[in-house]
Amino acid sequence: MTADEMKKQAAYSALEYITTDGIVGVGTGSTVNHFIDALATIKGKIEGAVSSSIVSTKRLEEHGIEVFDLNSVNKVAVYVDGADEANADLSLIKGGGGALTREKIIAAASDKFVCIADESKFVDVLGSFPLPVEVVPMSRSYIAREIVKMGGQPVYREGFITDNSNVILDVHGWDIMEPMDLERKLNNLVGVVTNGLFAMRGADVLLLGTESGTRVINPR
Ligand code: A5P
Repeated sequence: MTADEMKKQAAYSALEYITTDGIVGVGTGSTVNHFIDALATIKGKIEGAVSSSIVSTKRLEEHGIEVFDLNSVNKVAVYVDGADEANADLSLIKGGGGALTREKIIAAASDKFVCIADESKFVDVLGSFPLPVEVVPMSRSYIAREIVKMGGQPVYREGFITDNSNVILDVHGWDIMEPMDLERKLNNLVGVVTNGLFAMRGADVLLLGTESGTRVINPR
């Protein structure tokens, strides 16, 4: 089974968590693309979606699923999104696709966060995947120097502009033993818009595509 087949399996398993007649929060990435395709098979049963990126919005609309502005929605019962890494507490690293800020907003605004991933994303310690940090462009060098003081190795994601017109530093070299603590410290740097640690609001359930079927993991 390929990684993509495992992503697809996890994505289709997420349909079980979708509540009838509600608004579905939709993340971004290759796993979510499978989820959007899956959601299209039950589109008559949902009111619509809120989307975390321009690319997911386009795919949803191509399937005929109405996309609402988050400001016009009172309740998002379920948010479905992928991850670059997940640990046993269901703290996540996200933002490999650069959509971390809108993803974090919708995750915060949702009652339940269902994370979908292939089994390679499940790790003991977060940090092998470089941690994305979205920053206001003029703060880039300052933030990079502060991150170096914190022991990280920031790499500017050249040529990439986020949907919010900001830039991304990908931070290498951290073994993240205290994800909530690091998430807070990064948030406190002036110029940081969002960081890709989803620990204070981690996932509520992780659906992991594996060779032997979808593994359902609840937080430790
Ligand atoms: C997008 O910004 C990310 O947070 C994705 O959710 C994450 O990178 C997972 O992507 P894949 O599903 O493509 O692995």
